[in-house]
Amino acid sequence: MIFCTNFMFQLTLILGTARVGRQSEKVANYILKKIAGRSDLEVTFVDVKDHIHGRTIPPWENSELTRPWRDLVKASDGFWIVTPEYNYNFPSELKMLLDQELGNYAGKPVAFASVSSGGFGGVRAIEHLVPLARRIGLIPLLADLNFSKVAELFEKSEAELDASYAVKITTIIDKLLNFGAKK
Ligand SMILES: Cc1cc2nc3c(=O)[nH]c(=O)nc-3n(C[C@H](O)[C@H](O)[C@H](O)COP(=O)(O)O)c2cc1C
Repeated sequence: MIFCTNFMFQLTLILGTARVGRQSEKVANYILKKIAGRSDLEVTFVDVKDHIHGRTIPPWENSELTRPWRDLVKASDGFWIVTPEYNYNFPSELKMLLDQELGNYAGKPVAFASVSSGGFGGVRAIEHLVPLARRIGLIPLLADLNFSKVAELFEKSEAELDASYAVKITTIIDKLLNFGAKK
């Protein structure tokens, strides 16, 4: 009998806003930096601005424009979405990206990190992402990460950031990788 031991979890990390001057990019890059050295996963970083085409393009159009995203979803084992909160919601461009695919999200886990300039860490964006995730077949983790007062936060040293977030990032990644495993 042959056992396959070299499975590498394929994580897709999504920066969910295309806004010029977006602070969320700092959060996404920070998460990427914290997980990039792990030997048990491969990360594909997706900037939503590279995958939006000015209109909703549903998967059944089978458009060449959306093929890179659809292929990536198919190859992914799980997702981590970094989203800012815009008017109590997540950005429209993130919806346009996620709407490009349907069947191949099914049963895969998704984690969320939310970002805001205020003190609530963008939690309301996640509240709206959860029903969308369920509709398209993704399974949201119970734990999220929230980054309040993001501009001030990233004026701190990396060591200070790590004190608040490094362990939590590891915990979330471990939950994604062990998703479905019996504890
Ligand atoms: C159109 C728009 C709407 C926003 N609405 C909210 C909001 O409802 N709640 C909130 O906490 N911050 C809101 N913000 C501020 C964001 O939290 C802030 O821009 C933060 O830096 C994260 O977004 P960014 O990645 O675009 O920088 C809004 C920002 C924009 C551009």
